[in-house]
Order: sequence, then structure tokens, then C-alpha cells
Amino acid sequence: MTPEISLSAGALSKSYVVQNIRTQALSDVSLTLHPGELSLISGPSGCGKSTLLSLMSGLSRPDQGWVHALGVDLGRLDDAKRDAFRLAHCGFVFQGFNLFPALNALEQVQIVLDYQGVPHSQAQRGAARALEMVGLGHRRHLRPAELSGGEKQRVAIARAIVKRPRLLFADEPTSALDSTNGAAVTDLLREIAHRSSAIVVCVSHDPRLIARADRVLEMEDGRLRHDRRGRSGLSFKEISP
Ligand SMILES: Nc1ncnc2c1ncn2[C@@H]1O[C@H](COP(=O)(O)OP(=O)(O)O)[C@@H](O)[C@H]1O
Ligand SMILES: [Mg+2]
Repeated sequence: MTPEISLSAGALSKSYVVQNIRTQALSDVSLTLHPGELSLISGPSGCGKSTLLSLMSGLSRPDQGWVHALGVDLGRLDDAKRDAFRLAHCGFVFQGFNLFPALNALEQVQIVLDYQGVPHSQAQRGAARALEMVGLGHRRHLRPAELSGGEKQRVAIARAIVKRPRLLFADEPTSALDSTNGAAVTDLLREIAHRSSAIVVCVSHDPRLIARADRVLEMEDGRLRHDRRGRSGLSFKEISP
């Protein structure tokens, strides 16, 4: 796998200090994620999943270690260049859908392209295409209040993929959803990875999603414990503590 298309991290460590108490959130984590796969980072609450996601997406900096995204060493970029990298290559989906109450589904997605200066009609077509991809083409004129939780999250996913990012990060995207919608959203993330050859990373504490991912990285106490193929169920690597 060439570095230009993968997302790798080496020996990542990160701690937080609050009122003189240091919490080691991540200890010596190394991994490489591949395009065309949904990688699920699983593990109990507080084990360091969100910290890992934020380091790998360049939202924060590690205390030690490195991240290479699409061949770029994020540690070598200043804040402005890292912001530009994220804008160009990364999409994000979070637990809360973060939709604008006054905008309909099409506008929620289109606004991303408008902001980038894409001409109006082209932005509208791009947004409509992204909504089709998440199965919401027929619901494009509805506002958040008129959509179910699962539909709202699909709008948020459409918004995250409308720029066709090569890296898609989802932090607990299903935790506000019931199990049926949670499974559907996870399946959609996997389908996006397969269809667009994006690197899709989903963080979740919900063990029910494990069977739906291509690869499962299990964390515990800030460390990676297991790395295995999820859908085949075959373990290909056990990481010793
Ligand atoms: N901004 C922060 N300030 C202080 N402690 C934090 C911060 N973010 C996370 N932590 C701590 O780091 C550890 C890992 O947190 P996190 O990465 O959010 O885990 P997870 O996403 O698996 O629930 C936890 O003990 C958490 O309390
Ligand atoms: Mg978290």
C-alpha cells in the first residue's frame, strides 16, 4: 500500500492535564488504515477512541508520535496548513447531527459547496447527488424537524461526503439512534468506503456495530488491543500489551 493513499500513525501518545492531574488518554498507538474499508475503532467509553480520531484527522496534535495522511506528515504542517488539509480531504460526522434548523436537507448539504465558492447550480447538483447516495433524494425539501433521527444522520453524512473527501471520520455516529437506524448508518458508511474508495474511520462504543465493519480495532485503556477483520470474523493480528 503506497503512503499516498493510506492513513498511518506511529507511536502516538497523548495525555491531558486537568487541575494538575494527568490522564494518559493514548499510549503508543500505531496503525495503518486503508482506502475502500470501513475501519471501526471500538472499546468502552474513556478508552481513547475520540482522542485517536482527533489526532488522526489533524484536529489535535500528539505529545509523541506521528500521523501520515495521504502521504502528508501532519506534524510538519502549521495550524493553517493543517486546517487547509482537513478542508480539502476530510469529512466529519458526529453524534449530534449539527444540522441548521431552518435549512432543508438539500440546503444543509449545498451550503458546504457554496462556502467553497462552487457555482450555485453546480452546488445544487452536487448536493442532490450526495443526498441520493445516502438514500434521501426524495426527502431533500424537508427540514430537520420533519426528519427522523436516522434520516438526520444520513443528511449529516451527505454533508460530510459532498466534497468527496478521501478521509471520512465518524465519532459515535449511531449513539443517538435506535439499533435499526444505527445498523443502517453503519452499513451506509461501509458502502461509502467501498464505492468511493475513501478511508472511513468510525469510532463507537457499541459492540453491535462490530459485525458490520470491514476491520475492527479494539481499544482498551488508551492502547490498541486487537486488530481484526470484522466481516469475515477472522482475527489476523493480536497486539500484545
Ligand atoms: N479535553 C480533555 N481534557 C481532559 N481529559 C480528556 C479530554 N478529552 C479526553 N479526556 C480524557 O482522556 C481519556 C480518553 O478520552 P476519549 O478519547 O474521549 O475516550 P473515548 O472516546 O473512548 O470515550 C478519558 O479518560 C477522558 O476523560
Ligand atoms: Mg468518544
